[in-house]
Amino acid sequence: MVEEKKPVLVVLGTGGTISGGGNREGENLGYTAGLVSVETLVGGLPAPSGVVLETRQVAQIDSKNMSSSVWRDLFEAAVAALNRPDVQGVVITHGTDTLEETGFLLSSLLQADKPVVLTCAMRPATAAYPDGPQNLADALQVAACPGARGVMAVCAGRIHDGQHFSKVHTYRLDPFDSGEAGVIGYVEEGRVRCVRPWPRSEPTEHSREEKTVLSTLGKPWPRVEIVLNHAQADGQVVTALLWASRQDGAEPLAGLVLAGTGNGTCSEGLSAALSQASECGVTVWRASRCCQGAVLPTSLDLFPSAGDLPPVKARIALALHLMGLGRGEAVG
Ligand code: SIN
Repeated sequence: MVEEKKPVLVVLGTGGTISGGGNREGENLGYTAGLVSVETLVGGLPAPSGVVLETRQVAQIDSKNMSSSVWRDLFEAAVAALNRPDVQGVVITHGTDTLEETGFLLSSLLQADKPVVLTCAMRPATAAYPDGPQNLADALQVAACPGARGVMAVCAGRIHDGQHFSKVHTYRLDPFDSGEAGVIGYVEEGRVRCVRPWPRSEPTEHSREEKTVLSTLGKPWPRVEIVLNHAQADGQVVTALLWASRQDGAEPLAGLVLAGTGNGTCSEGLSAALSQASECGVTVWRASRCCQGAVLPTSLDLFPSAGDLPPVKARIALALHLMGLGRGEAVG
């Protein structure tokens, strides 16, 4: 009798606290992220029934050092896995610090008709009571779930849409929040309970052109910086950025995202400096430093709004826009 081949879940390792170690035995803080291989992480867990697991180490970094080259490699590895007919889904182990940025990038670029589930940990693999194994086991259950699709993040038993979650806590084992969008569902004792539909990827017209996306991601990204409005903000940061970008051999400044107060507003000094940047050819988008809500357009706006994207995601959206991989103009 010919045995039927089981579907595969591909687990891509990128590092993070989930693979952290090198600290004093059992310590929760003061470790080095990205030491334990993804093969070792997966080796300690049973596969969900009916699937087999495959691993690939794409990177081994602390996610606060995330770079465009790791993102390019991760996109390539995810596409390669998703295009295999025997693959049911992809799980990505990743640090929590920039997880929301990778989730947003993959949501923006991948045509994910299958599940792509990011997961992580707040305690290193060598902690006395690590949270990584449970998070990874839960992520595998979501990826194995019939009908699951789209980019998601799974942590502390909650399933977030890859576009909508942000890290909101420095220490809690459940550091993410999906804000007004809410979670997609929960993983409880290995069972997945959804309260909303799986994320629909809203692909750009480039999503199917994987080779174009890949080669664009592999080129140097346009430089896009975030500037914060705060009491006493006078715009000198922007003036300094413009000055630096004009020096010989410097990378030109292509974009600025304002992390504005309230509805994406800023001081008179910062506003004047942003206008000067814009006159020099820098594209300026407005986001808000508020944790929730969208920046709504008004009749007084000098620059377009980034909608409900927080500054770190607006920065990626603007970079993709400048690379010709975006969804078009800013929202406002
Ligand atoms: C990282 O983001 O790689 C380190 C922190 C974490 O994973 O919690």
